[in-house]
Amino acid sequence: MLEKLKNLEESFRQALKNIDSEAKLADLKARFLGKKGELSAILKTLSNASMEERKKLGQAANELKDRLTARLEEAKLILDRKITDAKLAADWTDITLRRSLMAESVKESGQHPLSIVQRELEDIFLSMGFDILDGPHIETDWYNFTALNIPESHPARDMQDTFWFKDMKHLLRTHTSTIQIRGMEHKTPPFRFVAPGKVFRCETTDASHEAVFHQMEGMLVGKDISVAHLIYFEKTLLSEIFQREVEIRLRPGFFPFVEPGFELDINCLICSGKGCSVCKQTGWVELLPCGMTHPNVLRYGGIDPEEYTGFAFGLGLDRLVMMRYGIDDIRLIHSGNLDFSRQFASC
Ligand code: PHE
Repeated sequence: MLEKLKNLEESFRQALKNIDSEAKLADLKARFLGKKGELSAILKTLSNASMEERKKLGQAANELKDRLTARLEEAKLILDRKITDAKLAADWTDITLRRSLMAESVKESGQHPLSIVQRELEDIFLSMGFDILDGPHIETDWYNFTALNIPESHPARDMQDTFWFKDMKHLLRTHTSTIQIRGMEHKTPPFRFVAPGKVFRCETTDASHEAVFHQMEGMLVGKDISVAHLIYFEKTLLSEIFQREVEIRLRPGFFPFVEPGFELDINCLICSGKGCSVCKQTGWVELLPCGMTHPNVLRYGGIDPEEYTGFAFGLGLDRLVMMRYGIDDIRLIHSGNLDFSRQFASC
């Protein structure tokens, strides 16, 4: 019997040498240590032996079992390491040889059309004596609505579909008009500033609507500022932007923070007014909502409306980019498609 156990251990040793997969290892375990395995078969014959012998052989068999189990565990560890090493060897890449990382394959870069237009506008505004301000994307109800003369339960709150945070106190700004208030808080009249940036609206997207788009807010406050100043300023601005005479029309527009308020449209430069998907077949594109700052808004900004007046406007940057480059789908602007952005002037 002891002889049999010895033989079993020897054949186990031999078999273990050929193990090169987890499946084979499992088979080996079953063959030697399983319920129907070789060790169990030997133990079954023990019933014929004497009490004394059974004890001795039983102990030897248990010790053998422990040894085999330990060898199996060790073999498993070695096998795992071999498998990992093989995987690493197969997947190994010398990243210094990657084409994209090599200097010779460096591509010429360009600026996104939106950055190009925004910077150009900033230059125009700087040349006209405007400051450039920035403000947060996450805003409070106060800056986005209340201080802009849109109190709670005012129907104008529903004009813009808002992304609210769970606390219902914070939101993603729906327009850059928030910076009218923030700007007034920091400045003493007379002043003029613009504030470019992303705005967010919970909207269904199509060729001319995106949930994230870009505006450039503008505000000018001083003594005796009138609608005449506003109109003259806008004409000058648009001819600077387009470097040519652009046909415009002014319509009354309602925005609670301006009174009177206007919508300034320009003749669609994509279809020259014939009608296309960008201008929704009307030949006109809404470009510049604007108006005289409402006295309440001046007051909320800490400015005395008896002493000062002002105007504000909100340029739609994406529309401007589309007009300039003949892009007929606003969704391309945020697509992250490099082939799209590479078409424009490089920096
Ligand atoms: N904030 C307005 C909008 O997003 C635009 C606007 C700005 C209107 C300034 C008038 C004056 O619709």
